[in-house]
Amino acid sequence: MLPEKLRELGPACYDCHLQDPLELTFKKDHLEKGLEMIGKKDPSRQELRILACAQCHITYSVPKDKDNQVAGDVTMPWRNGQWGDISIEGIIDVLLTDEFRLEWVQEITGFKMPFIRHPEFELFSRGSVHFKAGVACADCHMPFTRSGSYKISDHDVTSPLKADLRACAQCHTQSKEWLTDQIFHTQDRTTSLILRAGYGTATCARLFETLHQAQAKGAAVDNAVYSKAKDFYMQAFLRIVFINAENSVGFHNAAEAGRVLGDAVAFAGKSESLLRQLLAGVGMDPGLEVALDLGETLNNRGEAKLNFRPEQEFTDPFGIQDKLLSEHAKGL
Ligand code: HEC
Ligand code: HEC
Ligand code: HEC
Ligand code: HEC
Repeated sequence: MLPEKLRELGPACYDCHLQDPLELTFKKDHLEKGLEMIGKKDPSRQELRILACAQCHITYSVPKDKDNQVAGDVTMPWRNGQWGDISIEGIIDVLLTDEFRLEWVQEITGFKMPFIRHPEFELFSRGSVHFKAGVACADCHMPFTRSGSYKISDHDVTSPLKADLRACAQCHTQSKEWLTDQIFHTQDRTTSLILRAGYGTATCARLFETLHQAQAKGAAVDNAVYSKAKDFYMQAFLRIVFINAENSVGFHNAAEAGRVLGDAVAFAGKSESLLRQLLAGVGMDPGLEVALDLGETLNNRGEAKLNFRPEQEFTDPFGIQDKLLSEHAKGL
């Protein structure tokens, strides 16, 4: 039925199709429950071309009990959302309210953390230009293609860049160069902000580590200031994870990605200033630049002893990050 080279797709046919006729559908229980949370009923055919992908390309929690054992079915943090409006603010609120969503412990800070996983659907559907224009995931990732005399959907689901941007040409008359530039410009801007938010958040993590060490030796800190600093840290951290775990590097919704990362930078800055205030209160001065010692976390990882590889580092396309943080402070 499908040409041989298109039969390599990871998901099974029946993840997305009814058996007979091969109509588009979605099968996952968790998505049904998620759609109930956001008040979505009777999706149109074009919406099914989004929801077939949203079976997997969404964030979810794996509920954990007190001993960190799996304790229930996967569930989405969508209860504050609506179709077309699942915000990061709403997601974070749910993640930090439901204790069972804290799935792992961050080594440096010792904080219990929730996960955010590949939220392509959430970012894309929150008012992106394409979502508003009624464009579906399949329009860009499964463009129509010819097989003999048949017109079929390309089942080699991949980056439109790898597919020669044929998908875009279904609607856009601009040149391939122009379209490629649009994608890369958006991704460059997003990358620059990811670095700003990431290094800002990492700085706070190191300051928490230092503060916790002082507390372990008996230093007393103001609880109200501490919990504000922690809340701002979590707000920054979860925003950066949201955009980093989303796989389009901003393209699916450039304006929203910029907004979320800008807020992450603001929360991290606020957290850092509160942490410096707390450290000053116990007679400690972290100095002009906080040593991140990234080598400590990036080198010698796991059984394979993986190391940082400079050729894989994403540097700031605009050079701003280099002005804010020295190589010495990075500690690579
Ligand atoms: C990730 C979801 C997904 C998976 C998995 C998938 N398809 Fe599809 N398929 C689609 C979408 C989207 C369309 C376009 C349907 C539409 O717009 O109504 C489609 C359309 C089709 C069509 C109609 C003709 C066409 O291409 O538009 C056939 C036939 C088909 N798929 C066969 C298969 C077979 C066989 C498999 C397993 C090898 C499979 N599909 C796996 C998403 C999927
Ligand atoms: C059953 C789960 C599932 C469904 C349904 C699904 N995906 Fe995926 N998708 C994955 C997983 C898992 C990966 C990562 C696979 C890998 O790394 O090899 C992936 C990878 C991708 C990639 C990157 C592929 C590459 O070349 O590296 C794209 C693009 C993508 N999916 C888009 C879509 C779109 C669009 C749809 C709906 C038409 C869809 N996916 C439906 C699970 C799914
Ligand atoms: C307007 C076109 C368009 C729409 C609509 C769209 N995408 Fe994308 N998507 C892109 C582009 C462009 C990229 C960036 C590709 C790259 O960097 O190689 C991308 C990247 C991705 C990636 C990462 C691919 C990789 O190679 O790493 C995944 C996964 C993905 N999209 C899934 C989705 C899902 C799921 C939806 C719907 C919720 C969706 N996309 C809607 C154009 C689109
Ligand atoms: C199904 C039709 C469709 C497809 C496929 C499509 N687009 Fe679009 N795109 C639109 C529409 C509609 C708009 C809204 C603006 C307009 O009317 O031109 C738009 C707007 C844009 C914009 C301007 C965004 C902004 O913020 O104002 C860019 C850039 C863009 N598309 C790039 C792409 C790229 C790259 C692809 C392929 C990966 C793609 N589009 C695929 C229909 C499409």
